[in-house]
Amino acid sequence: MTRPKPHNRRPSASEPGGLGEKTLSVHAGNFSHREGEAIRVPITMANSYHLPYDPSTMDWSNPDHLTYTRNTGVNQIALQQKLAVLEHGEDALALASGVAALHAVFFTHVNSGDHVVVSDTTYEATYKLWTSLLPRKYGIEATFVDITDLDAVATAIRPNTKLLCTEVIANPTTKVADIPALAQLARERGVLLVVDSTFTPPPLYRPLDDGADLVIHSLTKYINGHGDAMGGAVIGRAELIEPIRAEAMVDVGGVISPFNAWLIVRGSVTLPLRLAQHQASAAELARFLHDDPRVAYVAYPGLPSHPQHEVAARLFAGRGFGGIMAFALDGDPDLQNRFIDDLRVITSAVSVGHDESLIVHVGTSGPRVAAYPEGFRTYGHLRFSVGLEDVADLRADLAAALDTAAH
Ligand SMILES: Cc1ncc(COP(=O)(O)O)c(C=O)c1O
Repeated sequence: MTRPKPHNRRPSASEPGGLGEKTLSVHAGNFSHREGEAIRVPITMANSYHLPYDPSTMDWSNPDHLTYTRNTGVNQIALQQKLAVLEHGEDALALASGVAALHAVFFTHVNSGDHVVVSDTTYEATYKLWTSLLPRKYGIEATFVDITDLDAVATAIRPNTKLLCTEVIANPTTKVADIPALAQLARERGVLLVVDSTFTPPPLYRPLDDGADLVIHSLTKYINGHGDAMGGAVIGRAELIEPIRAEAMVDVGGVISPFNAWLIVRGSVTLPLRLAQHQASAAELARFLHDDPRVAYVAYPGLPSHPQHEVAARLFAGRGFGGIMAFALDGDPDLQNRFIDDLRVITSAVSVGHDESLIVHVGTSGPRVAAYPEGFRTYGHLRFSVGLEDVADLRADLAAALDTAAH
């Protein structure tokens, strides 16, 4: 009798073969299993593939045939298969960056004269796409709403509204969107719910299970997790992914490089393990900062003081509250800068979800700040992505910098 090998077959989202989260994170998408083959899908650093005997009748834009790496590639396929399994999606498309994925969805599923409803708190590039680029170039109109106010969201939807766009935990304020309620509303009103789940990767949360139509990730963040590659993805029903693949990838060209796809597959192997550690440390450090009188506020969905703590607890059902928080010291911008300068373990840099703890000081100005909670408007914020270092070292680093900066 042969021993069953989980990676001998492609686990699918609908039939995950009863395998656990960690098993799937290791094996999904690894279609390399024949005798004599490397045990991992190797990097295929080629931009072209051998053609058949008579290629003259081929569709050169076919995204399902290994012809040219802008159409599809071996490492991209491996990554996409893995992401579809992890997010419980029928299909996945990997692109060059998270912003390429955001743009690909918007560019493909919205046309001139259409309208979209967007959360008033999102990653900067999403805001820019909807306030500047897409309206200016294509005449698309966007209404920004407080995504936690379901009546406001319902009122904003018009007959020509095509998309409802939100993040699960919003960058940077950590506002939490009630995805099941938004999905119900979107379904009733015939609009697609597009969810950027970059701050809440699986197994923490799966928006498709709660009725979202498309899920977007910056793979640059937790899914790769090692701060060494850029990538983005969109996951959902094949009928929604296929036009994105054809138009935004093959025709517009935002394809992921084979090397980055390979790096992200490798990084994603440890995603559930890393996420558990990020979350445990973040919960401890959020409480530590919250209890310090020199800290003006801490925004972390796991704290009972967070305005959407109950929504987050319902959505994440005991699986954690993410690894990112925002906070500020009770003082002026120079105090925030001195504090960061005094940190010895935590790195001042943008991005989130890396092995390394990252912190960035964001001020009180900017076009979106009016939508932020009062603390953010008064003190600015330090966005803190908790890494995989020993939590005792991180706590000691924060404590020492608080003492030296806020003495
Ligand atoms: C929530 C969110 N979505 C999308 C992006 C964009 O991803 P990328 O930098 O990979 O283009 C980011 C980047 O920080 C993000 O935080």
